[in-house]
Amino acid sequence: MTAINPTKRLFFALWPDSSTRQQCRELIATFDCNGKAVAADNLHVTLVFLGRVDSQQQTAITQEADSLSVAAMALQFDQLSYWKKPAIGCLTTSFPVDSALVSLADQLAAIAERCGIVVDKRPFTPHVTLFRKLTAALQGEFVPIQWQAKEFCLAESCASASGVLYRVLKRWPSQD
Ligand code: 2AM
Repeated sequence: MTAINPTKRLFFALWPDSSTRQQCRELIATFDCNGKAVAADNLHVTLVFLGRVDSQQQTAITQEADSLSVAAMALQFDQLSYWKKPAIGCLTTSFPVDSALVSLADQLAAIAERCGIVVDKRPFTPHVTLFRKLTAALQGEFVPIQWQAKEFCLAESCASASGVLYRVLKRWPSQD
């Protein structure tokens, strides 16, 4: 039976260009750890996690996001972090976060709330999850990853037989 009001599990994110994805993939391959490596095609920076969203909310969110004007954004991922509770190993930054990026995350969270979605109130901490189900911190030196973002996107988290797949539904390019 088809659900009357089907929902999708959505999030706003930055998606890497092919060179950045490749650098992350090569970095992942250097670790000998017990975590589950994130598939290269799934690598991203979550801006706002929306959770289950129905089609009306998706339309409203998308329309509001259409009105945003974003500049190109840059991140330098120079640290490895281990977050015990979600059991992830991720790339983070020791630098102050680009104000354009903080502003974008804030604006997207505000859009979500106007559309009736409860969002995480914790400060935006840009990170790229490299490993899940990790039980100890990642160790090692690495060349920092320069992540140039010329767009943001709305992505869907889809369950598949081979694990979770993230699918980009819409991209919003920066103005410059
Ligand atoms: P991450 O950003 O730490 O990797 C899709 O599920 C994405 O949204 C994942 O990348 C996930 O973690 C992020 N996310 C943030 N909050 C989440 C939550 N409460 N539940 C599931 N995923 C969440």
